[in-house]
Amino acid sequence: MKTARDRIFDFIKSKDSASAAEVAKKFKITRQAVNRHLWLLIREGRLLRQGTGRRNTIYLPNEKKILKKFIGASQEFGRRYKAAGLSEDSAFTEIRSQPGLLDSLNENGLEVLQYAFTEMLNNAIEHSGSRFIDVELCVNEASLAADVVDKGIGAFENIRKKKNLPKILDAIQDLLKGKLTTAPEFHSGEGIFFTSKIVDRFVLSCNGKVLIIDNKLGDIFVESGRKMKGTSVHFEIVLPARIKPVEVFRKYTNENFAFDRSSLNVKLFDTGDSYVSRSQAKRLLHSMENFKSIELDFTGVKTVGQAFADEVFRVFKNLHPEINITYKSANEDVEFMIARAVACTDRPLE
Ligand SMILES: Nc1ncnc2c1ncn2[C@@H]1O[C@H](COP(=O)(O)OP(=O)(O)OP(=O)(O)O)[C@@H](O)[C@H]1O
Ligand SMILES: [Mg+2]
Repeated sequence: MKTARDRIFDFIKSKDSASAAEVAKKFKITRQAVNRHLWLLIREGRLLRQGTGRRNTIYLPNEKKILKKFIGASQEFGRRYKAAGLSEDSAFTEIRSQPGLLDSLNENGLEVLQYAFTEMLNNAIEHSGSRFIDVELCVNEASLAADVVDKGIGAFENIRKKKNLPKILDAIQDLLKGKLTTAPEFHSGEGIFFTSKIVDRFVLSCNGKVLIIDNKLGDIFVESGRKMKGTSVHFEIVLPARIKPVEVFRKYTNENFAFDRSSLNVKLFDTGDSYVSRSQAKRLLHSMENFKSIELDFTGVKTVGQAFADEVFRVFKNLHPEINITYKSANEDVEFMIARAVACTDRPLE
């Protein structure tokens, strides 16, 4: 049976585009309810939002035929590469030389694409074990979308296995912290971390899970997806591109040019029982010893328990006095629990 969301999508598709007010009128629901449905459809990648301000914003299906009408024709590139002997730089050079393909990208856009594309292709070449890698690009005036798809082990399973972690979700959590690599002799574990920060939307699908980092919505989601062989990376850049990669690199890099800072979204480590236990704190900080500075983002976290705060702000801090732990977006209750733990930092570890 079709859900309300599906029916809203069908309605917009039947007209090619619609405003939030039109949807509210058609389905006789509140603006708030409409916004929630539209937001979810955007999050699923089915709708795109165009324009700014309440009056001028319209929603349209993320489908080639419709986008062509609104945005003009798209330029496309697709190729299946043999992984053996492939270099990510030569593939990028080939893409750059396609007549007209990247004409709508400014300097920022080209820099973001070069970094994101070569990093993701390098991952498929070096980590996946796949024989072939499929690359697709679709560019128009408003956005660039790229896909790098292999048929190898799957990134999450690769991490889970090599790091000896119990579950796929544990691998995703570790990956989100940054500086995670399963090949330390040749890699530094920065590719996915930085790529996901400089593109507007980053979707990594493998091993039955989908990790979505949506910088337009300022949010991260982990969802279940179809189990398929290999890793599929999809990313989008809104044009004209505003993000300068170097500024993002600088933000996470200290004066010695090492990637030394990590920001952790505490909410993502929720397992449904709020942040009460010491083991949750340990999981959060697992393998964070390599950073000099860690920022914990408590957005959306209602409260934390004494054991959790103690483990992060006293035990870990005492074990690693050289690491600077800061936090942001803590509400009054979280703030209180942290203050309490910090007050005890002089207490020796048992
Ligand atoms: N396509 C893939 N197939 C299998 N495993 C992957 C794939 N992409 C990423 N991974 C896993 O994810 C880890 C993190 O990738 P990431 O690009 O962030 O770092 P890295 O490649 O190890 O180091 P760097 O990118 O700095 O060279 C890799 O070490 C690898 O274990
Ligand atoms: Mg990499």
